[in-house]
Amino acid sequence: MDYLEIIGGNTLSGSVTISGAKNAALPIIAATILSDKAVTLTNLPNVVDIRTLLKLLTMLGGEVEHTDTVAHINNAHINSTKAVYEIVSQMRASILVLGPLLARFGECEVSLPGGCAIGQRPIDLHLKALEAMGAHIEIKGGYVRAEAPKGLHGAKIVFDKITVTGTENIVMAAALAHGTTTIINAAKEPEVVQLCEMIRDAGVKIEGIGSSELCIEGTSGKALAFKTVEIIPDRIEAGTYLCAGAITNSSITLKKVDHKHIRATIDKLEHMGCTFDLTDDTITIHPASTLLPVNLITIEYPGFPTDMQAQFMAVASIAKGESVIEERLFENRFMHVSELNRLGADIWLKGSVSAVKGVDKLYGADVMATDLRASSALVLAALVAEGITKVRRIYHLDRGYENLEGKLSALGAKISRKKESK
Ligand code: UD1
Repeated sequence: MDYLEIIGGNTLSGSVTISGAKNAALPIIAATILSDKAVTLTNLPNVVDIRTLLKLLTMLGGEVEHTDTVAHINNAHINSTKAVYEIVSQMRASILVLGPLLARFGECEVSLPGGCAIGQRPIDLHLKALEAMGAHIEIKGGYVRAEAPKGLHGAKIVFDKITVTGTENIVMAAALAHGTTTIINAAKEPEVVQLCEMIRDAGVKIEGIGSSELCIEGTSGKALAFKTVEIIPDRIEAGTYLCAGAITNSSITLKKVDHKHIRATIDKLEHMGCTFDLTDDTITIHPASTLLPVNLITIEYPGFPTDMQAQFMAVASIAKGESVIEERLFENRFMHVSELNRLGADIWLKGSVSAVKGVDKLYGADVMATDLRASSALVLAALVAEGITKVRRIYHLDRGYENLEGKLSALGAKISRKKESK
């Protein structure tokens, strides 16, 4: 198994190009199931999760040609509608094939994803919404079996909670349904917006894109023909590199980034004393003269993203003063706390609230990555920790960060990938 070895203490400089957004690419890849024609996706991030979902498409009978950042996909000859446990257990977001498979073929079986490191993560809201659209759903043998032999029909869906992949699943299902679907309390994340735009550009009438109320007129079963889609920049990868600048007291420039998508992240870093220069598609961060503490609460977009909580905790761990960080979306998303404390951080945790007392120095140690964003927080802390840090279980990082060690090395970090000796 690989691990990352990081020698802390270097300042960073120069620029880094941000990859396409994993969480935008995943629903867009799933949406290609709604089409029986070839479609090209560009600016895909070169990460494991993307390869996993493309592999699932080929297992269903789709034809996929994939180079690092481009995929040509043709789902004309899909001959299976079963998403097997072996794939879904590797990546929860495989649940995104549920809506489009059911909408196009009137039946499917998708393995239940189960829990994960950051919490229980049920899919009850996806299933309730599909039932409201006429699907018959049964859970048996660890699989969701869904049927709608005469097709799905439009419905009024009111989500009890805002759910990103739930909204995406229902938007895709609604695109081929008979009649109009209204989604109230829809997610507004940029990744949801890009999916809606892709479907709208294929001729489906969608109103309210980017708002919490979406109205989708289905095609009554007619498959879609998509134009080429260029995946939007990854706002979480961008935020992570901004945190790298903040924690190492460095000026760095991010290229190919959309700062409209990371306003909450920039705002909190400004509270911590960092300053920014923005152009249309670049951001330069300048370090704080004194890194100040920050209070934040994770919430749905456009609020502060849960996917940036761990990275901010790393930065706050060396701020001058005490920060308070509250996690409102996932019940168990603090697995990085004990690992950051192993590096010398002083973090106290009670329920969903943590108090981070800034310390003067972190010290290198062996730490274990527990989930995707927790792993990047450990890497950030290691960049400033005195001595050597080894971050183990980095397969989590490989799921979602393209070439993290290459990009950080190019900025001047001392980081290398090593193999565990047996
Ligand atoms: C997506 C993102 C993930 C991000 C999260 C929140 C992808 C592939 N992943 O995950 O990176 O951290 O949004 O921004 O885009 N919930 C239910 N029932 C459901 C669905 C969700 O109770 O049927 C709850 C969840 O447990 C959680 C909250 O709703 O507490 C939000 O989850 P959701 O937005 O669905 O997260 P994901 O779409 O899985």
